[in-house]
Parts: sequence; structure tokens; C-alpha cells
Amino acid sequence: MKIVVTGGAGFIGSHVVDAYIAEGHEVIIIDSLWEEGGGRLKNVNPQARFYQLDIRSAEAVELIVRERPDILNHHAAQHSVKISTDKPRLDADVNVMGLLNLLEACVKAGTRKVIFAGSGASYGTVEHLPITEETPQRPESPYGITKMVTEHYLRYYQQAKGLSYTIFRYGNVYGPRQDPTGEAGVIAIFANRILQGLEVRIDWDGEQQKDYVYVGDVAAANVAALTGGDDDVFCIASGRGTSVNELYRQLCEIIGRSVNVVRAPRRPGDIYLSYFDCSKAKRVLGWQPRMKLRDGLQHVVDALKGVTP
Ligand SMILES: NC(=O)c1ccc[n+]([C@@H]2O[C@H](COP(=O)([O-])OP(=O)(O)OC[C@H]3O[C@@H](n4cnc5c(N)ncnc54)[C@H](O)[C@@H]3O)[C@@H](O)[C@H]2O)c1
Repeated sequence: MKIVVTGGAGFIGSHVVDAYIAEGHEVIIIDSLWEEGGGRLKNVNPQARFYQLDIRSAEAVELIVRERPDILNHHAAQHSVKISTDKPRLDADVNVMGLLNLLEACVKAGTRKVIFAGSGASYGTVEHLPITEETPQRPESPYGITKMVTEHYLRYYQQAKGLSYTIFRYGNVYGPRQDPTGEAGVIAIFANRILQGLEVRIDWDGEQQKDYVYVGDVAAANVAALTGGDDDVFCIASGRGTSVNELYRQLCEIIGRSVNVVRAPRRPGDIYLSYFDCSKAKRVLGWQPRMKLRDGLQHVVDALKGVTP
């Protein structure tokens, strides 16, 4: 298939590109290498065609209309909760207007389907665990709001214009190439700092748990969606919570040293326990998370050390 991957120079998008190319697909990347994002030229698979373009641009539309891809895989986004609260208009411009620009292009190009990187952030604080596809979405940040709104536009375009979709709501994705200097991505941040012998900050009591899913497993879900899961939504995560203290402990064991831990108060919006039920993805897509946390953490450390698998 011919596939356009937006955000294909970024952390998750670049792994999706690699997985598509490994399956023999033709891949075109649209990525602006936005300075606040995790996109890097070195992440770009040399077998893909790379276009440094903004998803909001007329050039991006022209490219899609010219290339007529079978699939648009949409991973480009403004994905910082902090930037979204500081600059909600920027967040909406990239995440909503950018999406609409791409959807209009897909309709003109006769693209069959859009695969979309949604987020667990669209749920906000939930009343019942585990989180499933049926859990009500009550986003608590502009970022969570734009991720939820996107899902509604995808449903609209399917009904009104026949453009199919698969929506993935990811847990906390981790793995090689995640920006270790970003605001999020506790595993990359901790691993990088422990390797350098720098102190780490643990908020609250560190026992708060989130659901961490390995980026290779996420890429596999994106492969499954090429042929399955049409007009449907799936939670993609590991299915279990892991505490911040546990991540720190395991990374210290892998790296073979501990560092000074600075304790900090709870951050606004932090929740104590969050994990997903991913049985629908298993049932419909035949997908399940395969990477064991310990092995995934080892891959992160190896990548930061420059060890190739
Ligand atoms: N990392 C996670 O844990 C996580 C969790 C849930 C959802 N997501 C979603 O997955 C997607 C990828 O996230 P990531 O963690 O790989 O981030 P990332 O920053 O590494 O990748 C995003 C890419 O989008 C590009 N981009 C940003 N604005 C653009 C624009 N206007 N035009 C073209 N390209 C633009 C960036 O240059 C970057 O390469 C995002 O949509 C994000 O919201 C990520």
C-alpha cells in the first residue's frame, strides 16, 4: 500500500514508518520538524520519502492529492499538555485545523482510511478502572479536548464522505527515540538522567501508577489497522499500571547505579492509578502488547547508550 505518515520523524511515528517499510509498504512522511516536538531527521527511515511540511499547509494538501495514498496515518500533533494550557489556540490550530486540512486532502485524493493517534488524555479523570473504549471522555486539558474533538471529526468524515478511520487511544508510550529532555516521558527522562548520574524528581509519593506501552507494540497496532478495525476505536496500552517508584527502581537495576531522588508535591491533574483494558484490540485486531516492561526498559537504556540491538 501507499501510506502517508504525518509525524513520521517523531518518536512514535518513526517506529510506525519502520514497521510499514518492513512490511513492504511505500511510505511518504510529512513532518515539519517542529522545534517543540520530538521530530528528528535522524529518525527518518531512509527508505521513506520525507517532506518537511506543516500539516496545516496548502503544500501538504497538494502532496496528498498528487500522491493519492491508500492510507493516511496521522501522528503529527502538538502533544504537550503544558503548551496546550499556555497556548490553547496553537494547540487547536495544529490538532484540529491541521487535521481538517488533511481530511479534506484525503477526500480529494480518494484515500480509503485514516489511522489516528488519539490519547488517554481525552478521558481525564475516570470513575471506574480499567479504562475501556466505553469509558466516558471528560478531557481536562486543551490537548485532551483537541484529541477528543478529532475523533468526532473522523466519525463525521466517515459518515458524510465515506472516509474510513481507526482511532487508537494510547496509554503512556515509551521506547527508543523518545525525547529524554521533554516534559513527559518519565522513562526516557529517568533513564537519561540515571545514566548521567543526575538527580531525578519524583512527584507525590511515587506510588502513582500509569499504563506504559512499548512503542514497538504501538507500531504493531498501526500495522494491524491497515487491514482491520475499520471505523472503530481501540485502547492501546499494556493493561497494567506501574508506579513511578517501580520504574526508577528497575532502571537503576538495569543501569547499575542509583542517583539522588528529589521529592516534589503532587502536580495538578496527576491521578493516582490509571490502566486500560485492551481486550477489544485483541478480539478485533488480534493485537496484544508483547514487550515485557523489563525488556522494554533495557531497550531504552541501550538506545540512550548508543547500543544497537
Ligand atoms: N508519547 C505518548 O505517550 C503519546 C500518548 C498518546 C498519544 N500520543 C500521540 O502520538 C502522536 C505522536 O507523539 P510522539 O510522542 O511521537 O511525539 P513527537 O513530538 O515525537 O512526534 C510528533 C511529530 O509531529 C510533528 N509535528 C508537530 N507539529 C506539526 C505540524 N504542524 N506539521 C507537521 N508536523 C508536525 C513533530 O515535528 C514531530 O515529529 C501525537 O499525535 C501524540 O499526541 C502520544
